[in-house]
Amino acid sequence: MSASSDLRGKTILLPVIDTHFRILGEGTLDIKTPAQSALTVEADAILIFLFEGEPALPEPVSALDTALNGAIRELLELGDFSGKSGQSQVILTRGALPAKRLILVGMGKRDKYTPDSLRRAAGTGVRKSHEVKAAQIGVVFYEYIEGISTTEAAHLIVEGALLGRYEYRGQKSGEAPAGTGLPNNLQFLTENPAFEAELQAGTNIGLAFAAGAIMARDLVNLPPNICTPAYLAQHAREMAESAGLRCDVLEEQQMRALKMGAVLAVSQGSDTPPRFIVLEHNAQLGADADTLVLVGKGVTFDTGGYSLKPADGMVGMKADMAGAAAVIGAMGTIAALKIPLHVVGVVPAVDNMISGHAYRPQEVITASNGKTIEIISTDAEGRLILADALVYARRFNPAAVVDIATLTGACVVALGKAAAGLFSIEEGLRDVLLKAADQTAERLWPMPVYADYEKLIESDTADMKNSSGARFAGASVGAVFLRNFVDYPAWAHIDMAGMMQDLDGISYVPAKGASGYGARLLAEFARQWAQASAQSR
Ligand code: BES
Ligand code: ZN
Ligand code: ZN
Repeated sequence: MSASSDLRGKTILLPVIDTHFRILGEGTLDIKTPAQSALTVEADAILIFLFEGEPALPEPVSALDTALNGAIRELLELGDFSGKSGQSQVILTRGALPAKRLILVGMGKRDKYTPDSLRRAAGTGVRKSHEVKAAQIGVVFYEYIEGISTTEAAHLIVEGALLGRYEYRGQKSGEAPAGTGLPNNLQFLTENPAFEAELQAGTNIGLAFAAGAIMARDLVNLPPNICTPAYLAQHAREMAESAGLRCDVLEEQQMRALKMGAVLAVSQGSDTPPRFIVLEHNAQLGADADTLVLVGKGVTFDTGGYSLKPADGMVGMKADMAGAAAVIGAMGTIAALKIPLHVVGVVPAVDNMISGHAYRPQEVITASNGKTIEIISTDAEGRLILADALVYARRFNPAAVVDIATLTGACVVALGKAAAGLFSIEEGLRDVLLKAADQTAERLWPMPVYADYEKLIESDTADMKNSSGARFAGASVGAVFLRNFVDYPAWAHIDMAGMMQDLDGISYVPAKGASGYGARLLAEFARQWAQASAQSR
């Protein structure tokens, strides 16, 4: 009996978006329900997600076990496979099923379930499939755990699979390695037609989240001679076009007209001109609508300027635009999800360089709200470009503004690669962000914004200094500096310096290179904010 002749019912092919939110056509990622069963599908690998320490197999898995003469149960009994998170076990079917292999993947303990249990299982499964050169992948779908909807489960699996499969090709010459990019084919396997609509909806949500994070990774991974401020702007423009966002890009002259003295001071040492990128979702709703503004630090390379970084500290600084990448990626996701809010992404993009034109310590500059800043360190440039961006955000009359930046080494010292720092005194906003962080597993840890720190940046000659010049509370000092440019009901600052790249131990995040941190977090934040404001209406 061939699988295809057994295909009853309909096959739903989804339009698939690429990482620029362009429609790729149909069928790269397809869901076949209701007739496609794990027993009949001709896949290279069938992924089976199982909780740890549960010998009783769920129904569709037990049918596969029977077909294989009890091979799954025996592996569990012998202890070869326990279901621990990160564990996988290949079983060759050797003709017992049309599919070539089963891959058991651990989800960890049921009582420890979080959204990452499924996301990581999908990441692990897809990586293992790639290792054994399986291109056509099926995922046995069943009700994994009570309280998680089919839509949510499908979303998490698709997201984890796409992010786990990510590879950055870079500029290596010669042929591209085979099979990079999106998984060739992934389908959910179920015989229950009731799952159909939700699997489809969840797949689209998972695609939207993954595409935003993948876009962020690509932008961060690009070298600084390619990913310049102009490149970021052009990329944002093209993405906006396909995602249906409004995009305005300010050039140097317009920034001068707006008196953005802080962005311009940082940028003036570089031969590469700055850009100020504004992306708008639901622009037609205007300033009266519930509005969120997301601001991302876009330093495409940070040499430190005249407060020059040591050679070792400079490597890695192509990622100093990871906040910008997170905002641009999130805006794509927000557009794809059609979040019912007015959301604006603001990205000041500059290079921090040295030349005869570069700004120097002890200069006093004026930001676009008229406040003056004495430069102590030209390496504290992120807060300067964010200052003008935070002022610019005011014009949208936002209910809340969130900025995200690779702002301080001090935050890396405090939290390592375990979490980004969250700085906000608005409890409501903080709670929504923390909830979003739980959902996307992009950790945030609350840090203080005490007024005490303001003393540390009092200047003798200007309204403030851009650095205390000492090492105490460096991350919080950055936050209180930014507060001078904030004028709306709620504001939060995220210092993601530790999270931009080289995160270890997550199956769907590369151990080397960009993490994509922040893109999913900010999109989920907007989603939750929209939900909360719908409920309060
Ligand atoms: N881009 C850096 C912060 C950074 C450091 C990000 C390490 C990722 C990894 C930022 O512009 C910077 O240099 N900050 C200074 C601030 C100081 C001069 C007040 C720092 O952290 O030393
Ligand atoms: Zn710097
Ligand atoms: Zn920087």
